[in-house]
Amino acid sequence: MPISVRADLAELPDYVPGRKIPGAIVLSSNEVSTHAPASVLAAITDAAADVNRYPQMANDDVQAKTAAYLGQPEERVAIGAGSVALAQQVLQAMCVEGQEVVFAWRSFEAYPIITQIVGARDVRVPLTADYRHDLDAMAGAVTDDTRVLFIANPNNPTGTALRTAELERFLDRVPDHVLVVLDEAYREFATDPDVPDGLALAEGRENLAVLRTFSKAYGLAGVRVGYSVAPPAVTAAVRKVGIPFAVNRMAQAAAIAAMDAADELLARCGPVAVERERVRSALLEMGYEVPPSQANFVWLLLGDRTAAFNQHCLEQKIVVRAFVGDGARVTIGLPEENDAFLAAARTFPPPRN
Ligand SMILES: Cc1ncc(COP(=O)(O)O)c(C=O)c1O
Repeated sequence: MPISVRADLAELPDYVPGRKIPGAIVLSSNEVSTHAPASVLAAITDAAADVNRYPQMANDDVQAKTAAYLGQPEERVAIGAGSVALAQQVLQAMCVEGQEVVFAWRSFEAYPIITQIVGARDVRVPLTADYRHDLDAMAGAVTDDTRVLFIANPNNPTGTALRTAELERFLDRVPDHVLVVLDEAYREFATDPDVPDGLALAEGRENLAVLRTFSKAYGLAGVRVGYSVAPPAVTAAVRKVGIPFAVNRMAQAAAIAAMDAADELLARCGPVAVERERVRSALLEMGYEVPPSQANFVWLLLGDRTAAFNQHCLEQKIVVRAFVGDGARVTIGLPEENDAFLAAARTFPPPRN
Protein backbone atom coordinates (compact mmCIF):
# COMPACT_ATOMS: atom_id res chain seq x y z
CA MET A 1 0.00 0.00 0.00
CA PRO A 2 1.41 3.44 -0.89
CA ILE A 3 2.06 5.96 1.86
CA SER A 4 -0.70 8.43 2.59
CA VAL A 5 -0.68 11.72 4.46
CA ARG A 6 -3.49 12.66 6.86
CA ALA A 7 -6.61 12.96 4.71
CA ASP A 8 -8.03 15.81 6.81
CA LEU A 9 -5.09 18.04 5.82
CA ALA A 10 -6.62 18.37 2.35
CA GLU A 11 -9.15 20.76 3.87
CA LEU A 12 -6.55 22.70 5.82
CA PRO A 13 -6.29 26.23 4.41
CA ASP A 14 -2.75 27.44 3.75
CA TYR A 15 -1.49 30.27 5.91
CA VAL A 16 -1.19 33.06 3.37
CA PRO A 17 1.86 35.23 4.03
CA GLY A 18 1.83 38.83 2.86
CA ARG A 19 3.17 38.99 -0.70
CA LYS A 20 6.62 40.38 -1.39
CA ILE A 21 7.02 42.02 -4.79
CA PRO A 22 10.36 43.59 -5.71
CA GLY A 23 10.18 47.37 -5.60
CA ALA A 24 6.68 47.43 -4.13
CA ILE A 25 5.58 49.08 -0.90
CA VAL A 26 4.76 46.20 1.42
CA LEU A 27 1.81 46.89 3.71
CA SER A 28 0.60 43.32 3.97
CA SER A 29 2.15 41.69 7.06
CA ASN A 30 1.80 44.21 9.89
CA GLU A 31 5.54 44.60 10.16
CA VAL A 32 7.17 47.88 11.09
CA SER A 33 8.82 49.60 8.14
CA THR A 34 11.80 50.79 10.19
CA HIS A 35 15.01 48.74 10.28
CA ALA A 36 16.38 47.35 13.54
CA PRO A 37 18.77 49.66 15.41
CA ALA A 38 22.54 49.11 15.27
CA SER A 39 22.64 47.51 18.73
CA VAL A 40 20.18 44.78 17.68
CA LEU A 41 21.95 44.15 14.37
CA ALA A 42 25.28 43.89 16.21
CA ALA A 43 23.83 41.32 18.61
CA ILE A 44 22.58 39.26 15.67
CA THR A 45 25.97 39.46 13.94
CA ASP A 46 27.81 38.47 17.12
CA ALA A 47 25.49 35.52 17.63
CA ALA A 48 26.01 34.46 14.02
CA ALA A 49 29.73 34.05 14.72
CA ASP A 50 28.87 30.86 16.64
CA VAL A 51 26.36 29.57 14.14
CA ASN A 52 28.16 26.21 14.06
CA ARG A 53 26.89 25.66 17.64
CA TYR A 54 23.34 24.90 18.69
CA PRO A 55 21.55 27.66 20.59
CA GLN A 56 20.48 27.26 24.22
CA MET A 57 17.78 24.63 24.01
CA ALA A 58 15.69 26.02 26.85
CA ASN A 59 16.23 29.64 25.81
CA ASP A 60 17.70 30.20 29.29
CA ASP A 61 19.08 33.71 28.83
CA VAL A 62 16.21 35.16 26.83
CA GLN A 63 13.68 33.52 29.11
CA ALA A 64 15.31 34.96 32.25
CA LYS A 65 15.65 38.36 30.60
CA THR A 66 12.01 38.35 29.45
CA ALA A 67 10.78 37.37 32.91
CA ALA A 68 12.80 40.19 34.51
CA TYR A 69 11.70 42.64 31.81
CA LEU A 70 8.06 41.83 32.53
CA GLY A 71 8.41 41.51 36.29
CA GLN A 72 7.05 37.93 36.04
CA PRO A 73 8.31 34.75 37.70
CA GLU A 74 10.29 32.72 35.18
CA GLU A 75 8.09 29.69 35.76
CA ARG A 76 5.31 31.58 33.94
CA VAL A 77 7.34 32.54 30.84
CA ALA A 78 7.99 30.43 27.74
CA ILE A 79 9.88 31.51 24.63
CA GLY A 80 8.95 30.33 21.15
CA ALA A 81 9.75 30.79 17.47
CA GLY A 82 7.18 33.58 17.17
CA SER A 83 3.96 33.84 19.12
CA VAL A 84 2.22 31.75 16.46
CA ALA A 85 4.47 28.83 17.43
CA LEU A 86 3.50 29.35 21.06
CA ALA A 87 -0.20 29.48 20.12
CA GLN A 88 0.21 26.08 18.50
CA GLN A 89 2.17 24.77 21.50
CA VAL A 90 -0.62 25.93 23.80
CA LEU A 91 -3.08 23.86 21.77
CA GLN A 92 -0.75 20.87 21.77
CA ALA A 93 -0.42 21.26 25.52
CA MET A 94 -4.15 21.61 26.15
CA CYS A 95 -6.14 19.67 23.56
CA VAL A 96 -6.61 16.12 22.47
CA GLU A 97 -8.48 15.09 19.35
CA GLY A 98 -12.07 16.26 19.14
CA GLN A 99 -11.88 18.87 21.89
CA GLU A 100 -12.97 22.40 21.09
CA VAL A 101 -11.16 25.67 20.53
CA VAL A 102 -13.30 28.81 20.45
CA PHE A 103 -12.32 31.99 18.65
CA ALA A 104 -13.93 34.93 16.91
CA TRP A 105 -14.24 35.06 13.15
CA ARG A 106 -12.71 36.89 11.54
CA SER A 107 -9.66 36.80 13.64
CA PHE A 108 -6.05 35.70 13.18
CA GLU A 109 -6.05 33.27 10.27
CA ALA A 110 -3.61 30.92 12.01
CA TYR A 111 -6.18 29.93 14.66
CA PRO A 112 -8.22 27.55 12.49
CA ILE A 113 -5.04 26.11 10.98
CA ILE A 114 -3.31 25.28 14.25
CA THR A 115 -6.57 23.98 15.69
CA GLN A 116 -6.91 21.51 12.86
CA ILE A 117 -3.24 20.53 13.03
CA VAL A 118 -3.72 19.35 16.62
CA GLY A 119 -6.92 17.54 15.68
CA ALA A 120 -9.20 19.77 17.74
CA ARG A 121 -12.48 21.23 16.51
CA ASP A 122 -12.78 24.94 15.86
CA VAL A 123 -15.82 26.86 17.03
CA ARG A 124 -15.98 30.20 15.26
CA VAL A 125 -18.07 32.96 16.77
CA PRO A 126 -18.98 35.78 14.35
CA LEU A 127 -17.85 39.28 15.24
CA THR A 128 -20.51 41.83 16.18
CA ALA A 129 -21.95 44.19 13.57
CA ASP A 130 -19.23 46.69 14.51
CA TYR A 131 -16.47 44.10 13.96
CA ARG A 132 -15.67 43.46 17.62
CA HIS A 133 -15.54 40.24 19.62
CA ASP A 134 -19.03 39.15 20.60
CA LEU A 135 -18.16 38.22 24.16
CA ASP A 136 -21.67 37.10 25.10
CA ALA A 137 -21.80 34.75 22.14
CA MET A 138 -18.27 33.51 22.85
CA ALA A 139 -19.15 32.73 26.46
CA GLY A 140 -22.29 31.00 25.17
CA ALA A 141 -20.21 28.88 22.78
CA VAL A 142 -18.21 27.27 25.59
CA THR A 143 -19.09 23.64 26.29
CA ASP A 144 -17.65 20.91 28.51
CA ASP A 145 -15.39 20.02 25.56
CA THR A 146 -13.92 23.52 25.21
CA ARG A 147 -10.27 23.64 26.22
CA VAL A 148 -8.98 26.92 24.79
CA LEU A 149 -10.55 30.22 23.80
CA PHE A 150 -8.48 32.71 21.80
CA ILE A 151 -8.99 36.45 21.96
CA ALA A 152 -6.72 38.61 19.84
CA ASN A 153 -6.68 42.06 21.39
CA PRO A 154 -6.41 44.18 19.28
CA ASN A 155 -7.98 41.83 16.79
CA ASN A 156 -6.37 40.89 13.49
CA PRO A 157 -7.54 41.83 10.84
CA THR A 158 -10.14 44.29 12.16
CA GLY A 159 -7.88 46.27 14.52
CA THR A 160 -10.75 46.59 16.99
CA ALA A 161 -9.93 46.26 20.69
CA LEU A 162 -11.79 45.18 23.79
CA ARG A 163 -11.69 47.44 26.83
CA THR A 164 -10.80 46.48 30.39
CA ALA A 165 -14.22 46.26 32.05
CA GLU A 166 -15.86 44.16 29.34
CA LEU A 167 -12.92 41.77 29.19
CA GLU A 168 -12.84 41.42 32.98
CA ARG A 169 -16.58 40.67 33.03
CA PHE A 170 -16.03 38.06 30.35
CA LEU A 171 -13.10 36.42 32.13
CA ASP A 172 -15.21 36.21 35.29
CA ARG A 173 -17.85 34.32 33.30
CA VAL A 174 -15.65 31.81 31.49
CA PRO A 175 -15.64 28.45 33.29
CA ASP A 176 -12.43 27.40 35.01
CA HIS A 177 -11.76 24.47 32.66
CA VAL A 178 -11.22 26.82 29.70
CA LEU A 179 -7.84 28.44 29.14
CA VAL A 180 -8.37 31.92 27.70
CA VAL A 181 -5.44 32.90 25.49
CA LEU A 182 -5.15 36.63 25.13
CA ASP A 183 -3.09 37.25 22.02
CA GLU A 184 -1.53 40.67 22.39
CA ALA A 185 0.64 40.77 19.27
CA TYR A 186 -0.33 44.40 18.65
CA ARG A 187 -0.89 45.78 22.14
CA GLU A 188 2.07 48.17 22.00
CA PHE A 189 0.28 50.16 19.29
CA ALA A 190 -2.86 50.69 21.40
CA THR A 191 -3.27 54.31 22.43
CA ASP A 192 -6.52 54.06 24.41
CA PRO A 193 -5.43 53.57 28.03
CA ASP A 194 -8.57 51.49 28.53
CA VAL A 195 -7.19 48.72 26.30
CA PRO A 196 -6.12 46.28 29.02
CA ASP A 197 -2.68 44.97 29.82
CA GLY A 198 -3.11 41.19 29.72
CA LEU A 199 -0.46 40.64 32.36
CA ALA A 200 -2.40 42.79 34.83
CA LEU A 201 -5.59 40.89 33.96
CA ALA A 202 -3.78 37.59 34.53
CA GLU A 203 -2.97 38.43 38.14
CA GLY A 204 -4.99 36.11 40.32
CA ARG A 205 -6.50 34.24 37.36
CA GLU A 206 -5.45 30.65 36.84
CA ASN A 207 -7.01 30.24 33.40
CA LEU A 208 -5.52 33.12 31.44
CA ALA A 209 -2.46 32.98 29.17
CA VAL A 210 -0.96 35.94 27.36
CA LEU A 211 0.91 35.75 24.05
CA ARG A 212 3.20 38.51 22.90
CA THR A 213 5.78 38.89 20.19
CA PHE A 214 9.00 40.64 19.27
CA SER A 215 7.86 40.60 15.62
CA LYS A 216 5.75 43.73 15.54
CA ALA A 217 6.53 46.67 17.85
CA TYR A 218 10.06 45.40 18.45
CA GLY A 219 10.64 45.00 14.72
CA LEU A 220 12.04 41.44 14.73
CA ALA A 221 9.59 39.65 12.42
CA GLY A 222 12.50 38.20 10.44
CA VAL A 223 14.12 36.29 13.30
CA ARG A 224 10.97 34.72 14.83
CA VAL A 225 10.73 35.06 18.57
CA GLY A 226 7.83 35.61 20.93
CA TYR A 227 6.77 34.65 24.43
CA SER A 228 3.88 33.41 26.50
CA VAL A 229 3.03 34.19 30.10
CA ALA A 230 0.76 31.57 31.60
CA PRO A 231 0.13 29.61 34.79
CA PRO A 232 3.20 27.50 35.67
CA ALA A 233 1.58 24.15 34.80
CA VAL A 234 0.57 25.44 31.37
CA THR A 235 4.00 26.98 30.83
CA ALA A 236 5.73 23.71 31.70
CA ALA A 237 3.55 21.86 29.18
CA VAL A 238 4.05 24.53 26.51
CA ARG A 239 7.82 24.21 26.89
CA LYS A 240 7.58 20.42 26.78
CA VAL A 241 5.83 20.28 23.39
CA GLY A 242 8.15 22.81 21.74
CA ILE A 243 10.47 21.69 18.97
CA PRO A 244 13.98 21.45 20.45
CA PHE A 245 16.21 24.41 19.50
CA ALA A 246 13.36 26.07 17.58
CA VAL A 247 14.47 29.55 18.60
CA ASN A 248 17.82 30.01 16.93
CA ARG A 249 20.78 31.78 18.51
CA MET A 250 20.38 34.93 16.39
CA ALA A 251 16.73 35.20 17.47
CA GLN A 252 17.64 34.71 21.14
CA ALA A 253 20.34 37.39 20.93
CA ALA A 254 18.08 39.77 19.01
CA ALA A 255 15.30 39.48 21.58
CA ILE A 256 17.71 40.26 24.42
CA ALA A 257 19.11 43.26 22.54
CA ALA A 258 15.59 44.42 21.69
CA MET A 259 14.62 44.43 25.37
CA ASP A 260 17.76 46.47 26.09
CA ALA A 261 16.69 48.88 23.34
CA ALA A 262 13.02 48.86 24.37
CA ASP A 263 12.78 52.61 24.98
CA GLU A 264 14.05 53.33 21.49
CA LEU A 265 11.91 50.64 19.84
CA LEU A 266 8.68 51.38 21.63
CA ALA A 267 9.08 55.11 20.93
CA ARG A 268 8.37 54.20 17.31
CA CYS A 269 4.85 53.00 18.12
CA GLY A 270 3.40 56.43 18.91
CA PRO A 271 4.10 57.86 15.45
CA VAL A 272 2.61 54.69 13.89
CA ALA A 273 -0.59 55.28 15.88
CA VAL A 274 -0.69 58.92 14.74
CA GLU A 275 -0.34 57.76 11.15
CA ARG A 276 -3.06 55.15 11.73
CA GLU A 277 -5.52 57.87 12.71
CA ARG A 278 -4.49 60.02 9.74
CA VAL A 279 -4.90 57.12 7.30
CA ARG A 280 -8.24 56.09 8.77
CA SER A 281 -9.63 59.64 8.66
CA ALA A 282 -8.55 60.02 5.04
CA LEU A 283 -10.17 56.69 4.11
CA LEU A 284 -13.40 57.58 5.91
CA GLU A 285 -13.46 60.86 4.02
CA MET A 286 -13.15 58.91 0.76
CA GLY A 287 -16.20 56.89 1.77
CA TYR A 288 -14.53 53.63 2.88
CA GLU A 289 -15.87 51.73 5.85
CA VAL A 290 -12.96 51.36 8.32
CA PRO A 291 -13.54 50.32 11.95
CA PRO A 292 -11.52 52.17 14.62
CA SER A 293 -8.16 50.43 15.04
CA GLN A 294 -5.83 50.14 18.03
CA ALA A 295 -3.25 48.17 16.05
CA ASN A 296 -0.65 49.03 13.39
CA PHE A 297 -3.09 48.39 10.55
CA VAL A 298 -6.54 49.31 9.33
CA TRP A 299 -9.30 47.09 7.96
CA LEU A 300 -11.26 48.19 4.92
CA LEU A 301 -14.66 46.54 4.51
CA LEU A 302 -14.87 45.93 0.78
CA GLY A 303 -17.00 42.80 0.41
CA ASP A 304 -17.03 41.56 -3.16
CA ARG A 305 -14.86 44.51 -4.28
CA THR A 306 -11.89 43.18 -2.29
CA ALA A 307 -10.20 41.31 -5.14
CA ALA A 308 -10.48 44.34 -7.45
CA PHE A 309 -9.15 46.63 -4.73
CA ASN A 310 -6.20 44.29 -4.21
CA GLN A 311 -5.47 44.24 -7.93
CA HIS A 312 -5.74 48.03 -8.15
CA CYS A 313 -3.23 48.42 -5.29
CA LEU A 314 -0.85 45.90 -6.88
CA GLU A 315 -0.97 47.91 -10.11
CA GLN A 316 0.23 50.91 -8.06
CA LYS A 317 2.96 48.64 -6.57
CA ILE A 318 1.35 48.54 -3.17
CA VAL A 319 0.89 45.19 -1.48
CA VAL A 320 -2.01 44.94 0.95
CA ARG A 321 -3.50 41.83 2.51
CA ALA A 322 -6.76 40.91 0.82
CA PHE A 323 -9.28 38.53 2.39
CA VAL A 324 -11.30 37.98 -0.74
CA GLY A 325 -15.01 38.61 -0.32
CA ASP A 326 -14.45 40.35 2.98
CA GLY A 327 -11.96 43.17 3.07
CA ALA A 328 -8.37 44.33 2.93
CA ARG A 329 -6.00 44.78 5.83
CA VAL A 330 -3.46 47.52 5.32
CA THR A 331 -0.42 47.94 7.54
CA ILE A 332 0.51 51.43 8.65
CA GLY A 333 3.95 52.15 7.22
CA LEU A 334 6.08 55.26 6.97
CA PRO A 335 4.21 58.49 6.14
CA GLU A 336 5.33 58.39 2.50
CA GLU A 337 4.24 54.75 2.18
CA ASN A 338 0.88 55.60 3.67
CA ASP A 339 0.54 58.54 1.28
CA ALA A 340 1.18 56.21 -1.66
CA PHE A 341 -1.47 53.83 -0.36
CA LEU A 342 -3.97 56.65 0.14
CA ALA A 343 -3.34 57.83 -3.42
CA ALA A 344 -4.15 54.32 -4.65
CA ALA A 345 -7.27 54.14 -2.48
CA ARG A 346 -8.39 57.50 -3.89
CA THR A 347 -8.23 56.28 -7.48
CA PHE A 348 -10.07 53.00 -6.84
CA PRO A 349 -13.41 53.32 -8.61
CA PRO A 350 -16.33 53.70 -6.16
CA PRO A 351 -19.08 51.06 -6.20
CA ARG A 352 -21.74 51.43 -8.86
CA ASN A 353 -25.23 51.83 -7.38
C1 LIG B 1 -3.00 38.27 16.26
C2 LIG B 1 -1.65 37.71 15.92
N1 LIG B 1 -1.07 36.88 16.76
C3 LIG B 1 0.12 36.34 16.52
C4 LIG B 1 0.80 36.65 15.36
C5 LIG B 1 2.09 35.93 15.11
O1 LIG B 1 3.18 36.71 15.28
P1 LIG B 1 4.61 36.05 15.38
O2 LIG B 1 4.50 34.59 15.15
O3 LIG B 1 5.42 36.74 14.35
O4 LIG B 1 5.05 36.34 16.77
C6 LIG B 1 0.25 37.51 14.44
C7 LIG B 1 0.96 37.79 13.20
O5 LIG B 1 0.50 38.31 12.24
C8 LIG B 1 -1.02 38.05 14.72
O6 LIG B 1 -1.62 38.86 13.85
